[in-house]
Amino acid sequence: MDNLFQMLKENRDSGRYPYHMPGHKRHACGDLTGELCGLDITEIDGFDNLHQPEEILLRLQREAARLYKAEESFFLVNGSTAGILAAVSAALDRGKRILMTRSCHRAAYHAAYLRGLEITYLYPPLLSDFGIFDAVAPEQVKEALEADSEIGAVLLVSPTYEGRISDVRSIAEIVHKKGIPLIVDEAHGAHLGFGRGLPGNSCMAGADLVIHSVHKTLPALTQTGLLHVNGERIDREKLRRFLRIYQTSSPSYLLMASIGNVLRFLDSECEKAFDVFSQAYAEMMMQLRECKHFKILPWERCSVLPGSGQDIGKLVISTKGTGQSGRKLYDLLLRRYGLQLEMAAENYVLAMFTVNDSPEGYRRMTQALLELDREMEAGDKKFFDCETEYGAMERPVSRIPLAKAWDMKSETAALTESVGCCAGEFVSLYPPGVPVLVPGEQITEALCQRIKSWLESGLTVQGVEVREGKILTRIIK
Ligand SMILES: Cc1ncc(COP(=O)(O)O)c(C=O)c1O
Repeated sequence: MDNLFQMLKENRDSGRYPYHMPGHKRHACGDLTGELCGLDITEIDGFDNLHQPEEILLRLQREAARLYKAEESFFLVNGSTAGILAAVSAALDRGKRILMTRSCHRAAYHAAYLRGLEITYLYPPLLSDFGIFDAVAPEQVKEALEADSEIGAVLLVSPTYEGRISDVRSIAEIVHKKGIPLIVDEAHGAHLGFGRGLPGNSCMAGADLVIHSVHKTLPALTQTGLLHVNGERIDREKLRRFLRIYQTSSPSYLLMASIGNVLRFLDSECEKAFDVFSQAYAEMMMQLRECKHFKILPWERCSVLPGSGQDIGKLVISTKGTGQSGRKLYDLLLRRYGLQLEMAAENYVLAMFTVNDSPEGYRRMTQALLELDREMEAGDKKFFDCETEYGAMERPVSRIPLAKAWDMKSETAALTESVGCCAGEFVSLYPPGVPVLVPGEQITEALCQRIKSWLESGLTVQGVEVREGKILTRIIK
């Protein structure tokens, strides 16, 4: 397989003078080191063009397609975000209707806004100990499609941020019976299909468009991703057009070399690395079964083909029943043990493991959690003073479609005085940024209480602002 990193090194050492961008001219400047700059170029002779690939980038994209069992693959340098925007835009003409899970990343909502789409939401069931959305069930998709003949495409997230995997094969069959495409945001599943015992990816399960964040679960640089396309339902020229629109015209070759590097890893040494990963992760999960207070979302090994289940690598720890909020546990793990987790929510925290974790990573996490759990056993709850009960997840009512609402004039108002008004901005808990309020949806008392309690627990809520003790939000005038 071509080695883009090697080519970048050869270019650096070639003696050619760079009369081209980037402006650092491959030299260090301040804290920007020569090591980084030396390899950082965009399109120059011999390095092909991402938006019209004919040489090395075309060959590497074909390698990606071969490895992921896709018909065609594209490099993403603006993350899965660009892939989702392009996929949704290509799958649906302006003004059409999309069926998507409410747990979709904000990029899906942005695509719906940009293309003026009508949205029907799928609300997957909630896992009550954690307050997280479970995988989408095929029957749910079937029912939603039967209820509305106007739906032109389906978009789901699998695995979810917390690792819930849907039965994509069955869902693809249902969706294709209607003659419409299935898009799977598999941003958290770029590792699927590699390594013994892991489920296959959604290309293998029949999805038309699949988006991977290579950087999330594989050893690659931030922002790297892949978009795969299969079958006849998607106009490929349109897809390329939208990729040109949503991706930069100056793609970073460091990022693309990093995708190439991962492809070489997946093509050669990966099976052994995934075995070591699975074993270390399984051992940690086994040891954590000793916890008497924390509840750990169990890892269910999925079959080789996708079925619903829990993905490898995510460690989701519920604090429900301990008298402690997710944020408290998150802070404690960081301050006392130096463990930086991925996120904290009301009643759980999330840590991520990949093939690149060291034995130390598993050991330190296991020891810290067992120690904290034992402290609770001894009745020491001094760190633990807050817990939020989960009620049923609110299903906000949309009064004005997103595409219209986000363009309407809005104003800042106190959240508590906004009950009954329509949201003028997205409101979401970040990470992962799944909206609890979409522009045009009605603000309810229960939602206000929920937002208030998130802020009180120290969680980051996007779309609201606290000024002089007042929670402010945007409402449509
Ligand atoms: C489910 C999901 N999809 C898409 C994205 C966007 O991915 P990226 O950061 O690669 O643009 C995220 C980011 O967290 C995500 O959680």
